[in-house]
Amino acid sequence: MPLPKAELHLHIEGTLEPELAFALAARNGVTLPYADTEELRAAYRFGDLQSFLDLYYALTAVLRTPEDFTALADAYLERAAAQGVRHAEIFFDPQAHTARGVPFAAVIEGLGASLDRSEERYGISTRLLMCFLRDESAESALATLESARPYLDRITGVGLDSAEAGNPPAKFRAVYEEAARLGLRRVAHAGEEGPAAYVREALDVLGVERIDHGLRCMEDPELVARLVRERIPLTLCPLSNVRLRVVDTLADHPLPAMLDAGLLVTVNSDDPAYFGGYAGDNYDAVREALSLGPEQLRTLARQSFEASFLEDDEPRRARYLAEVEAYDFRV
Ligand code: ADE
Ligand code: ZN
Repeated sequence: MPLPKAELHLHIEGTLEPELAFALAARNGVTLPYADTEELRAAYRFGDLQSFLDLYYALTAVLRTPEDFTALADAYLERAAAQGVRHAEIFFDPQAHTARGVPFAAVIEGLGASLDRSEERYGISTRLLMCFLRDESAESALATLESARPYLDRITGVGLDSAEAGNPPAKFRAVYEEAARLGLRRVAHAGEEGPAAYVREALDVLGVERIDHGLRCMEDPELVARLVRERIPLTLCPLSNVRLRVVDTLADHPLPAMLDAGLLVTVNSDDPAYFGGYAGDNYDAVREALSLGPEQLRTLARQSFEASFLEDDEPRRARYLAEVEAYDFRV
């Protein structure tokens, strides 16, 4: 039995496996510029974040109907369940779909149909977080939040993703203010390719409660001290960091130093279809490469539930935490 864990940094579009991409392409009459799944997989060699994003957005072309989004989420949840994920907070990128003429309603209703059955079918509780693309305009982000209004009962919070460098958090001050007024939780990608200063700006200007990635905070000791003091969670994605060349190798990953510093770090998969592994694979990879012991792994799992948006008084939170404490690494 795998270690129970929460996954807090997962882009549903990044779970599109080549097999499903080709199946959906055939169903929707979309031609992919790759002969087969093998040729597509061979394209998964990335020099940086942008080279990955180019392929990630290109492949969204196969996602057209609510049923496509349902199939995508079902496939993720099934894999995640097999790797011990008990709770998943799932990002989606509405602008990547509405820009192609796919209605916001098709995306959210399709994802919702899967998530509504998730606990019963896969034993995974879920939350949905809507991301704004930071390389699009602030006006586009505001229009996206407007489109989400009829569906706010399905959306727990907002995030900020896509090309980080040159797109500072402050560009999105207005839309985050509006999201806060609507009672949405707030997170943002920061300190992946962008500088530590973007982590601080996301906290100060956008009022985020959690930072996605954030590993470059380690360049700024004062910021680290603040993140520890304020118990701000960081959702790390180790295999992603290797594939996007944020770190040279897993052995160079700052995760152990971040744990030692007392940071509330968690381990997540980001875009597992592209980066070589789901949540459990990321745990296994860091255990191997960084020689983490059972108590460090238990800390990571415990922190994943502590950092989640499960309410403090939600019985699931206590149940999951008890499962983590009771987990026996010897079996
Ligand atoms: N969108 C999907 N994955 C992402 C990542 N790792 N960083 C920024 N935007 C993303
Ligand atoms: Zn991400």
